[in-house]
Amino acid sequence: MAKRDLVISMDIGTSNVRVIVGEVNQDRTINIIGVGTSPSKGLRKGVIVDLDKTVQSITEAVEEAERMVNVEINSVFLGVVGTHITLINNKGVVAVAGEDKEITYEDVERVIQASRVIAMPPDREIIDIIPRQFIVDGYDGIRDPVGMVGVRLEVDAMIITGAITSIRNLMRCVNRAELEIDGVVLNALANGEVSLTDDQKELGAALIDIGGGTTEISVFQQGGLKDLSVLPVGGDYITNDIAVGLRTTIEQAEAIKIDHGKALTSLVESEEEIEIKNVGGKEKNTVTENIIASIIEPRVQEIIYLAREELEKMGYLKALPAGVVLTGGVSMMKGVAELTEEVLESSVQVAQPEYIGVKSPVYSTGVGMIHYVLKSHMLPTSKKETKLAVPQFFTRIKNWFFEIFE
Ligand SMILES: Nc1ncnc2c1ncn2[C@@H]1O[C@H](COP(=O)(O)OP(=O)(O)OP(=O)(O)O)[C@@H](O)[C@H]1O
Ligand SMILES: [Mg+2]
Repeated sequence: MAKRDLVISMDIGTSNVRVIVGEVNQDRTINIIGVGTSPSKGLRKGVIVDLDKTVQSITEAVEEAERMVNVEINSVFLGVVGTHITLINNKGVVAVAGEDKEITYEDVERVIQASRVIAMPPDREIIDIIPRQFIVDGYDGIRDPVGMVGVRLEVDAMIITGAITSIRNLMRCVNRAELEIDGVVLNALANGEVSLTDDQKELGAALIDIGGGTTEISVFQQGGLKDLSVLPVGGDYITNDIAVGLRTTIEQAEAIKIDHGKALTSLVESEEEIEIKNVGGKEKNTVTENIIASIIEPRVQEIIYLAREELEKMGYLKALPAGVVLTGGVSMMKGVAELTEEVLESSVQVAQPEYIGVKSPVYSTGVGMIHYVLKSHMLPTSKKETKLAVPQFFTRIKNWFFEIFE
């Protein structure tokens, strides 16, 4: 199989490192042909705290994916969490170059380059530039101006900047695992690709990804990302509370949470006595699902209240006509969607990728990344005939990366 037909994503989460191999068909549909998952041991709250352990997790996940597809993986698209990310709106203006005044890909590329000129502190770098709309001779709302005729081409772009140090550590781990980086994708944008429909993104919806160590809240409207915020809380908090409350190990608390956890005590039907060992492993105790739910409920409630505060700060709490979509591992727990509905006073659904083998909210980021990579190639910034060429900003990140590390 030719290598250029594959897009490989890597989601380095607090709970797991996930590698997903997507095969791109002629008609630009995607098949998910390989998955590799390895428990993530070097991250806390979405931030790398141990390089060696992270490298090890990356290697294990890659090896698993390689075995599945029987292809050597040398490079990946890397997901970055929204912590330390700033979204800046900026404009770019150029004169259309051609004598016939027909707008070409090159004009679009130039106007996007023009929009990237912003004052930035030295510790920040541009991760991505997303054109929100193009304006041709004053006519706005244009999504793809290529082929139109005009004199003056403007773009309203959103520039995504990130703190160099946090991205640098992430990239360093990937590099140490002997992988190259094809590009960097913001997790929120990746999630938006698989978890939200075009209508939801157009009307206005919030996407809440509750993972192991982070909860990422992003708001989409008018077709694009409007704002995002990351909270350093997630499923690990729930596990911790269970471990403390039931005086058991983190490992057992995690298993109890997954097997018996519910976010609402009102959903508990079973009165079964569940056996647990205490921390020493000697004494055994029993606990009911009701007790487990009474530990989980306040914690999940707290996470959602914090998310509510963020939405309020962003000014979108009462402005989400398309409701709220949940994804990430914690969204699989029974009752989380109902609780979120109550706290946010909005309709709530849980989203997962609709592909065999990755049908779970824990794969939304990884699968979304593949979709995002494909879609950004469809953007007018890259020429359609060079289907899978790396777009300019990706190449730039790559260059910057090698400048630092070589
Ligand atoms: N069926 C389930 N019920 C309840 N919780 C679950 C379930 N499956 C996974 N989780 C929890 O989801 C969390 C992991 O989610 P996910 O894999 O999305 O996180 P991550 O992407 O690795 O981390 P992060 O995005 O926070 O860096 C863990 O806390 C795990 O216990
Ligand atoms: Mg995650």
